[in-house]
Amino acid sequence: MTGSEHVLLTPYGLRCDHRAEPLGLDAGTPLLSWRLRSGRRGDAPAAYRVRVRTEDGVLVWDTGEVADPEAASARYAGPLLRPRTRYRWQVSVTAADGAVGAAESWFETGMLGPSAWTASWIAHDPAALDVMNAPEEGELALADHGLQPAVRLRRPFEAPAAPVRARLYVTARGLYEMRVNGARVGDAELAPGWTDYRDRIDYQTYDVTDLLRAGGNVLAATLADGWWSGFVGFDPRRSGAHYGTFPQLLAELHLEYADGTTGILATGGDWETARSPIRYADLLMGECHDLRLETPGWDLPAERARPEATRDRETEPEEPRPAESQPAESRPEGTPAGRASGDGWLPAYVAGTDRALLTASVAQPVRAVQELAPRTVTRFEDGRHLVDFGQNFAGRVRVTARGLAPGDRVVVRHGETLDDRGRLYTDNLRTAAATDVLVAGADDETIFEPRFTYHGFRYAEVTGLTALGTGDITGVVLHSDTPWAGEFACSDPELDRLHQSIAWGQRSNFVSVPTDCPQRDERLGWLADAQVFLPTACLNADVAAFFDGWLRDVRGARSADGGFSNVAPRLAGVADEGAPGWGDAGVLVPWHLYRVYGDERVLVRNFDAMCGWVDFVHRHNPDLVWNRRVGPHFADWLAPTPTPRDVVATAYFARSADLTARAAEVLGHPDAAERYGTLAGHIRKTFTERFVTPDGRIEGDTQTGYLLALAFGLLPAELVPGAADRLAELVEAAGPGLTTGFLGVGLIAPVLDAHGRADLAHALLTRAEPPSWLHPLRNGATTIWERWDGYTAGRGFQAAAMNSFNHYSLGSIGEWLYQGVAGLAQAPASTGYRELLIRPRPGGLTWARASYESVRGTVSTAWTREGGGFRLEVSVPPGASAVVHIPAADPGGVRESGIPAAEAAGVRIVGTEPGALRCRVTSGEFRFTADVH
Ligand code: BGC
Repeated sequence: MTGSEHVLLTPYGLRCDHRAEPLGLDAGTPLLSWRLRSGRRGDAPAAYRVRVRTEDGVLVWDTGEVADPEAASARYAGPLLRPRTRYRWQVSVTAADGAVGAAESWFETGMLGPSAWTASWIAHDPAALDVMNAPEEGELALADHGLQPAVRLRRPFEAPAAPVRARLYVTARGLYEMRVNGARVGDAELAPGWTDYRDRIDYQTYDVTDLLRAGGNVLAATLADGWWSGFVGFDPRRSGAHYGTFPQLLAELHLEYADGTTGILATGGDWETARSPIRYADLLMGECHDLRLETPGWDLPAERARPEATRDRETEPEEPRPAESQPAESRPEGTPAGRASGDGWLPAYVAGTDRALLTASVAQPVRAVQELAPRTVTRFEDGRHLVDFGQNFAGRVRVTARGLAPGDRVVVRHGETLDDRGRLYTDNLRTAAATDVLVAGADDETIFEPRFTYHGFRYAEVTGLTALGTGDITGVVLHSDTPWAGEFACSDPELDRLHQSIAWGQRSNFVSVPTDCPQRDERLGWLADAQVFLPTACLNADVAAFFDGWLRDVRGARSADGGFSNVAPRLAGVADEGAPGWGDAGVLVPWHLYRVYGDERVLVRNFDAMCGWVDFVHRHNPDLVWNRRVGPHFADWLAPTPTPRDVVATAYFARSADLTARAAEVLGHPDAAERYGTLAGHIRKTFTERFVTPDGRIEGDTQTGYLLALAFGLLPAELVPGAADRLAELVEAAGPGLTTGFLGVGLIAPVLDAHGRADLAHALLTRAEPPSWLHPLRNGATTIWERWDGYTAGRGFQAAAMNSFNHYSLGSIGEWLYQGVAGLAQAPASTGYRELLIRPRPGGLTWARASYESVRGTVSTAWTREGGGFRLEVSVPPGASAVVHIPAADPGGVRESGIPAAEAAGVRIVGTEPGALRCRVTSGEFRFTADVH
């Protein structure tokens, strides 16, 4: 607004397939996108031009000048991309007045297909894993879980020179951490992430050029069970080893030297393996480091390993082979390892060469994104320390332990809350032990941080240390590193805390896949949870790549006859057949992503599955009331007032059919659009005939029933006002209060608002008795609870069997904080934030503001109400326009930057309504003022 007028139209925030500078891309035709900013009101793009070059400047693809004022992306359509190649690309955007702005970025291809790989899957010989000592009585509390040690693998090699470029392509069946010459490679955590490993295994690419040198080098790895062979989910009959029984590594190091020669070092039988000092590492159970078993220098070239590092080695590693001569596999697949090379190092076991499922990861990895200092550390009489991080989160702790003798143990237990006596409460973790153990070695001071596990917790209880200061322990926050995109704040600190706890719920549960909860023995990709929370998630962060990745598993989890599942990645032991609202996520999620990010490819990829799902439901429910093949029918899960199941199901059936029709239209499939559009119409008609009385009462007469009908547009126009009134009555009669569960909760504020009752939406936000959002906050919540009454003063905790304090579903109100309270929304028919709807709903607040980094650029709103005046500041990115509703007692008196709105540049009055003026504005920054007496 001030000082930025000189900024011309400029592209920024360049993305390739929704990621900044992706390394190792397997897509042949990536989407290159950009955002725009400008300091000039009304600035708009007229044309763009994208040029892609090789690193040495050879032009590969040039769109030429494309006159398209709406474009914010271009799909690569040049010659076949070469594997393992970096491309630089530039976008220049010409403004309507001829000014040109440009920006540059790069992407680098990966292996571009499974056939390029030569590496084998290698592992520690599973028959040799009994090297773990039998635990002494009480030594390892988790011995009965049958956990196995994490293993180390390494391959010393000789490089003729320092490479000018080195890339490591790597994945695991299990979890890996790679090291080169003792240094950790990259910052990805829990890599390669969770996919249905039977369908697809993601690999990652790292630039390791700077870690290598001329002469002796060591490429090394630690492997742990993770989702592959560790515990996942809650089914006691099928609690672990869902995909395999021991972890395996597959990696290729590609080297390029200044003289043009190249080398490849691939995993194979010439690697060696040993068990690691990590006696077990499991996502649910926790991790145990036994530092008495540590062999420092194991990952260093022999001449750099410290003397003590090799003290218990009988022999040094074999003479390394030059990296140029890639060794043939030394043993046929699956044969057992041969003779040990000394000190417990065995030749690697070659577990196979199947590379058909390898594909580059498409989303940001999990990273340690933030550290939390403890708020308090309390010491109990029995020597335990209780650490309060002040925030429920997903991650782990890093502890500095001092004064321990070899063999002393430090035990860290994790919990979300405390019991009535102020002790760690862990009953709600069910079978997840969530316990990390350090067994001290000879060192005086040890820094302990688990590597292959994570927990959902706010409190950590530490046993085994005589002293623990606040500086000795840190909370390490882990989550998929989706770029944060939204900000919200307002004059009510409790609503700010609500927003923050919603955001922390998102952080805690976007860990490789969208999970229901991060703490108990579950942490599954439940489809409905993801679907209901998605609109909020998309405003908080850029989750385009994250969900694109997960949707591959949603498609993969379908039944042979087209049914979506309840969880993805699918998991044995969890009821497969998608319930209403759960299976429908396979339709709702792609549609919403398309609307937010404007990338049609998400519809292209999912369209067949969407059709398949609607056909599946239709086939089994030809009378159009969905009451057969409903899976476990969770209905409006955890609703205080249940809504009839057939009402919920049939509403979702109509919704899925309708969105599939709209997707068909977008993709240019008129026949399908017609077919699903007609079907949707018939389902709506059936819904009304079966469930709605002539005076507009919906069967069950519940809030969720009306919400689904109104939000999904199921009712004939003449019944809408009555239904909206009845909804308002029900909300009023409840307190005002809500009686919705997972499926209704995200709709309640937007629907009330859409029907003129934003006042009731505000009333729900300020209610403090359960069910409400403030009840948990006033009872110490820092994340959204799974249940409205997870804890109540009189009764205490809800049933421990299902009582998470970090579930995001009920946090789907977050969308309305942005869209309603702050008034920052995309217009209903818009995609990719081309048209905005700025319509703040102040309620009893005095100010609110929000900003959102959209695919087109930054959108922001900020309003204040002071005395009788209302001020609204709006920022609209170039290429977008907005309809702005300005609250005003006298719509004719609204001013923009001090002059009557009707005369302001870039502002066109489009109408008035009681108490508000409606304008359409161009891009740029606007400052409206009005009287609201
Ligand atoms: C999960 C939910 C999920 C539900 C299915 C629960 O155990 O935690 O979030 O959607 O099961 O009803």
